Amino acid sequence: MNGAWWRDAVIYQVYIRSFADGSGDGVGDLAGIRAKLPYLAGLGVDALWITPWYPSPMTDGGYDVADYRDIDPVFGTLADAEALLREAHRHGLRIIVDIVPNHTSDRHPWFQAALAAGPGSPERERYVFRDEPNDWRSVFGGSAWSRAGDGQWYLHLFDATQPDLNWDDPRVREEFLDILRFWLDRGVDGFRIDVAHGMVKDPALPDLGVDHEGLVEPPDRGDHPHWDRPGVHEIFRSWRELARHYGDDRIFVAEAWVDSPRRLARYVRPDELHTAFNFDFLRCPWDAGRMRSVIDSSVEALGAAPATWVLSNHDVKRHVTRYGGGLPRARAALLLMLALPGGAYLYQGEELGLEEVEDLPEEVLRDPKWERSGHTQRGRDGCRVPLPWSGAAPPFGFSTGTPWLPQPARWSAKTVSAQDADPRSTLNLYREALRIRKENPAFGDGALSWLDSPPEVLAFRREPGVVCVVNLGEEPAALPPHRKVLLASGEPGDELPPDAAVWLAV
Ligand code: NOJ
Repeated sequence: MNGAWWRDAVIYQVYIRSFADGSGDGVGDLAGIRAKLPYLAGLGVDALWITPWYPSPMTDGGYDVADYRDIDPVFGTLADAEALLREAHRHGLRIIVDIVPNHTSDRHPWFQAALAAGPGSPERERYVFRDEPNDWRSVFGGSAWSRAGDGQWYLHLFDATQPDLNWDDPRVREEFLDILRFWLDRGVDGFRIDVAHGMVKDPALPDLGVDHEGLVEPPDRGDHPHWDRPGVHEIFRSWRELARHYGDDRIFVAEAWVDSPRRLARYVRPDELHTAFNFDFLRCPWDAGRMRSVIDSSVEALGAAPATWVLSNHDVKRHVTRYGGGLPRARAALLLMLALPGGAYLYQGEELGLEEVEDLPEEVLRDPKWERSGHTQRGRDGCRVPLPWSGAAPPFGFSTGTPWLPQPARWSAKTVSAQDADPRSTLNLYREALRIRKENPAFGDGALSWLDSPPEVLAFRREPGVVCVVNLGEEPAALPPHRKVLLASGEPGDELPPDAAVWLAV
């Protein structure tokens, strides 16, 4: 189509608390990221998405922002962020920051002012205060309403420390345009928009009449009162308009949990956002028929916008564990994802083949889901355990202090230094795959055509001259005629074993 960098970019998600700790307090930070820029450039990704780095009480890992124009002291300073931007650019890496517009922290000066000013005040208008709650539920469990001291209730679709903003208030719209400008002026290359599908609410706040606790998307209805409302699109048109003034290589990616690819496509219309995560792909089980239909329906619905594939992030079970097939399946899934048309996001640690840590002791769990669900849901800490970099025992070079979540001793075999020199390691599979993908014009943006294959096998061609075959079945599969194996997720042979993928030059 055209050469815009984001149409086929591979973007690496840095969950900042757990990536690398430069200060020795056990929490990852900007100094840690800066020290690892050569590692990230060497991996071969195009950009980093860094999760929220703003001053925050950290009740939800920083998705509770108290000041959108500064850096939390636990992560560093604004000057560190500026240095990181410069150094990343020098390494050829772009930086995408996380913007959290659906809610602020309850420590944000606006919410503090709203509490102080009382019912009926203009300060309360920037949030959603009411005399009576409705039946909406928090994504993290329990009611979506909490009581302010004077008897009024405020809305929070997430934790009680994350009050929802009222996007019908023009001051909220102005403020966020200004926050975007603040970071664009500092050289960020884009924004990941948190809860993009939740920002606009039906002002009548009608009861839902169903218990949809924990659901982050509209359950089978087009007119949901707080998810995926048409009004969000007007906001995103104004954001795109703003970004255009900075040149069209500053981009947005939406976190929008919606109920169909067609609804998702509305977020990436030409005058709206550039990209949106494809969560249908992330949620699809390891099943050839279903994978194929998700791929087809996504590509078809998006039209001219590129798809954005993702296997793991800080909110879901790591795919080594989720697919139920261990490393072989995860390695095959990578070759599948990177051969699809469009761009892709990698989640830190997947290049090491990390699994979900499912045995964290209850007393270390930090996800607000754990408390709000009355200890029935352990939450998302198992995918947020700090990375193992080197050494034979925790903290594995992550920190000189005690990591904020404990790392499993078995990760000694998965550290970056343990995998570095082993040509068959998962780390080197990622490096190879990213190198080949970058060098070969068949990958990335463009069309895909399916080849005939048994029902449990996915086989498709990218032009010029590349075929990807993935075996999701239980029997070995025959390979189509080819000139050469470009890359294999397992041992290359005459046949493709179960839970394996290959890229072929044809
Ligand atoms: C989505 C983020 O990815 C998640 O981590 C967070 O808890 C919610 N949005 C609320 O901000």
